[in-house]
Amino acid sequence: QLTGLTTIIVLGASGDLAKKKTYPALFGLYRNGLLPEGTTIIGYARSSLSLQEFHSRLLDFAKLPNDQIKGQFMEFLKHCTYISGQYDKDEDYRRLNKAVEEAELTGEDGNKNRVFYMALPPSVFIPVAHGIKKNLYSAKGINRLIVEKPFGMDLESSRKLGRALAPLWKEEEVCLPFVPEKGITYRIDHYLGKEMVKNLLIIRFANVFFGAIWNRQSISNVQITFKEKIGTEGRGGYFDEFGIIRDVMQNHLLQILSIVAMERPLSLNSEDVRDEKVRVLRCIPPVKMDDVILGQYTKSEDGTKPGYLDDKTVPPGSNCPTFAAATLWINNERWEGVPFILKCGKALNEQKTEIRVQFQNVPGNVFKNAPRNELVIRVQPGEAVYMKMTNKLPGLSMDTVISELDLTYHRRFSELNIPDAYEALILDVLKGDHSNFVRNDELDAAWKVFTPILHQIDNEKINPVPYAYGTRGPEKLDEFVASYGFKRASEEYNWPGRQ
Ligand code: BG6
Repeated sequence: QLTGLTTIIVLGASGDLAKKKTYPALFGLYRNGLLPEGTTIIGYARSSLSLQEFHSRLLDFAKLPNDQIKGQFMEFLKHCTYISGQYDKDEDYRRLNKAVEEAELTGEDGNKNRVFYMALPPSVFIPVAHGIKKNLYSAKGINRLIVEKPFGMDLESSRKLGRALAPLWKEEEVCLPFVPEKGITYRIDHYLGKEMVKNLLIIRFANVFFGAIWNRQSISNVQITFKEKIGTEGRGGYFDEFGIIRDVMQNHLLQILSIVAMERPLSLNSEDVRDEKVRVLRCIPPVKMDDVILGQYTKSEDGTKPGYLDDKTVPPGSNCPTFAAATLWINNERWEGVPFILKCGKALNEQKTEIRVQFQNVPGNVFKNAPRNELVIRVQPGEAVYMKMTNKLPGLSMDTVISELDLTYHRRFSELNIPDAYEALILDVLKGDHSNFVRNDELDAAWKVFTPILHQIDNEKINPVPYAYGTRGPEKLDEFVASYGFKRASEEYNWPGRQ
């Protein structure tokens, strides 16, 4: 926990991420009294903006449902200042440092901690890490650096970034007693801050019945799905460099997979948890093209929504995938032979992220055609955990019906607020808890799984299959998923909680 005075410096403060995620999360913490007393937030970016202009940008994106919250936001803005400057100029950083020192004057003697949040494009990542280390590093307190993805384009570039950062900012906590912790990096994957992703450890390791069936003997296949309704509208330029595998699959979905598949950690200590995540990732061989479908969206069927290539910011003829399904295999005692099917795409028919664990057929079942059990963990929207089970259809017959044990959060926990992922993660940084951040060896293992296929797609210019904006994705998707043993229960079944 930070003691003394804390200043949060948001680099890239005028950008999209800062407006949409970082500042709203900081406001959430402020409103709930979770920012350390006296915290000042200083935004820094290249855009030359007056403080008033900067504040009105933040206001545009703030969700302020009533006057009381609006009043709190206006109070919050009093703690938010803004400085413009370049990312490669020492004199600009020195000006920023001066502003931080002025903010620190308001505190009593004691620690002067600085939390740097890099909401920046990767191209300026290293100069900024140098600039702040050289000009802004607090000698009198704790320094923490929050880094956003993308962490490279492949294994090699990610290692290069890591090597450039390592002498400046350390990865691990210094565990020696009496040695103050200094300059620690927190690599954000915001999916690790989502309530239902955090719940995975508890579902798995605090329930005896799941512990007993969480293996290849009982589980047939696992699907981790991320669907978005919107295309890349406006972000096409950025997206095209990366594609959906780098944007979502290699990080968010693989992080979820690692928690679904890991062994029980020795403790909840962050290194124990991350050790197990790395261990399971290292059991996954690189993905093969035979286990992949790539898609790119075209105009919607009614012609009202543009195709990916219609986006002016996308290079003509780009083969960048906006949809991918990939099956991963985990070569260990628990999971050998169980396909983990990751699916993600933009411009699809619905928005949802979920984990679907499908169990094996009931051996020697006397009830004909009984569908398989499924455990579904719905990450968003509408957090829920439900188990699809076969039940007697009430009445005089012995007919069966698919029903569910349903824990839908908005019913069960209607009084409780589900914090935003970024809020949860920034609070972890303030507390010095690394559990929900990506360690360097974890990142390395994740890149090893995807780098060969990414190179193959780039080098062989593999063309994605088209799917129309607003549909379920490439037509062959159902066949692909079925080829790994997934059995759809019935066309008619629909989870009643579906929104
Ligand atoms: C980001 C991706 O990391 O996650 C985006 O770059 C994606 O493309 C976003 O839209 C999804 O996050 P969330 O929290 O809205 O599901």
